[in-house]
Amino acid sequence: MMRIDIISVVPALMQSFFEHSICKRASQAGLVSIHLHDLHDYSSKKFRQVDDYPFGGGAGMVIAVEPLSTCLDHLMAERTYQDIIFLTPDGQTFQQGLANQLSLSENLLFICGHYKGIDERIREKYVTREISIGDYVLSGGEIAAAVCADAIIRLIPGAIGDESSALTDSFQDGLLAPPVYTRPASFKGMDVPEVLLSGHEKKIEAWRHEQSIKRTQDRRPDLLQ
Ligand code: ADE
Repeated sequence: MMRIDIISVVPALMQSFFEHSICKRASQAGLVSIHLHDLHDYSSKKFRQVDDYPFGGGAGMVIAVEPLSTCLDHLMAERTYQDIIFLTPDGQTFQQGLANQLSLSENLLFICGHYKGIDERIREKYVTREISIGDYVLSGGEIAAAVCADAIIRLIPGAIGDESSALTDSFQDGLLAPPVYTRPASFKGMDVPEVLLSGHEKKIEAWRHEQSIKRTQDRRPDLLQ
């Protein structure tokens, strides 16, 4: 079973997500276990403080090295992590290929930043990979961690209903997914493409592939390069 640990200063932000999404299904099926850790629990300060002013001055607070180091040491003493991932806008952009790769891991650890970031020494000493979910700045890494976890977990065989479904997602073959339809076949004058009603598997497959290419050409020509 895959294990995902997530360290955060606001773990409650992710609680509901993991209790309602495909991640919950996967947890219940025994495919993954997700553990949220409140960094405040590892503070040695009186008021469970985990941040401090940046050396050299400037706006914003920085997550201190001490509680984060304590938390990481605690978790790393229990098991070996294939990757210790820090979510940050200056990380490697998250893409399907990386999700595929990470979905083969046994133990993953995510660190969510907040405020102005985390003390650089944590990044140097512990972090093995830094991931950004896109070129925009979020208030914290929690949503980014949830995004990555979701993309990873749905790839675990058995996590989504249809075993082959994740393989036909957009991006899996470098193309966007084709359009899909369900009943009724005719709705307010709009008809489902004939071929999908034909029962002719080969033709349907060919049509879907053609539509995938067309859609990719129209919307994401960069993917075809
Ligand atoms: N933390 C803040 N912004 C982020 C981003 N774009 N990706 C990952 N983590 C972040």
